[in-house]
Amino acid sequence: MSKDKVEIFDTTLRDGEQVPGCKLDTEQKLVIARRLDELGVDIIEAGFPISSPGDFKSVEEIARVVKNARVCGLTRSVKKDIEVAAEAIKHAKRPRIHTGIGTSDSHIKFKFNSTREKVLERAVEAVKYAKSFVEDVEFYAEDAGRTDNEYLARVCEAVIKAGATVLNIPDTTGYCLPEEYGAKMRYLKENVRGIEKATLSCHCHNDLGLATANSIEGVIHGARQIECTINGIGERAGNTSLEEVVMILRQHPYLNLDTDINSKLLYSTSQMVSQLMGMPVQPNKAIVGSNAFAHSSGIHQDGVIKKRETYEIIDPTDVGVDHSSIVLTARSGRAALAYRAKNVGYELTKLQLDEVYQEFLKYADRKKEIMDEDIHKIIESSKVNIES
Ligand code: KIV
Ligand code: ZN
Repeated sequence: MSKDKVEIFDTTLRDGEQVPGCKLDTEQKLVIARRLDELGVDIIEAGFPISSPGDFKSVEEIARVVKNARVCGLTRSVKKDIEVAAEAIKHAKRPRIHTGIGTSDSHIKFKFNSTREKVLERAVEAVKYAKSFVEDVEFYAEDAGRTDNEYLARVCEAVIKAGATVLNIPDTTGYCLPEEYGAKMRYLKENVRGIEKATLSCHCHNDLGLATANSIEGVIHGARQIECTINGIGERAGNTSLEEVVMILRQHPYLNLDTDINSKLLYSTSQMVSQLMGMPVQPNKAIVGSNAFAHSSGIHQDGVIKKRETYEIIDPTDVGVDHSSIVLTARSGRAALAYRAKNVGYELTKLQLDEVYQEFLKYADRKKEIMDEDIHKIIESSKVNIES
């Protein structure tokens, strides 16, 4: 059975770049945009053109250079925003305007001092106006995670009628539980007239560490687009991490969902974004963290050396990491020491290994991690006679 495609909407350069201290200049954004295009993302959200002349320029230049992906600009439901975004993306091969408004009661009351009816009218007007510039219009219902489902369905129905091609259902505050977010998608799929004309999109924030789980629940219940960022960067605790959703869908083939991402570029793209933004990747970050394929406890090391799959569910080369690593610490066992010693040129017999292992433990108790150069010293200082 052929798999359903989930479109990857990358917002590293918009929601991701909102991270304090991670501002990029146009040149840096162009480097990332080209790489995202090569990675195979379907949509690049290049920025929020009305927000500053610099952002306008970046979006305009990205629109000119991107070859395959759609290029999208964000707007509020404000005419001037839409005009400026339309101007910025006009050279894109496949332009998209992403417009929207807050739909939760809290946004309606406190942000807009308005009513549900008036917000619905503004949403429809914005989509119609955006549609006068481009064919492809995505609508976001900001804070959809906390929006009443019945009202959300009415808004979705109205904006589809006005011409929206994609409906973004953001969990803006990262509040929803996976079951709740999935149920919201299912509700919209079942209750919005005309939903077959539009794609439902997941846009999840990570305030409770649930962004990836929520996005996956969203696609299980009918969404076909995920909005995400490289390394999960973004406002506050960040957005859904691109590398995580891509690999979850790939490692669970029975879901019958896949993306067009070239996963072998994931690690290098993660490094590129981290370096350009000056934002380190946490070592234990799933898929791309420096420890993602590092094994340090004796039991795990023994298993991985015998058969990689005992403790690894992903082949590191599938995400562009050369190999898994066996980290030598005081928690490592003989199998790991023999393996690493062999890698640096020593074939140890069982007796020799016993001897060297005692010396290794003394050394490892003093040092956090044993490197290749330490192995030579340990073998030399243990009294065994080994041909290297
Ligand atoms: O989180 C959010 O609601 C957003 C919208 C502007 C799409 O980023
Ligand atoms: Zn967001």
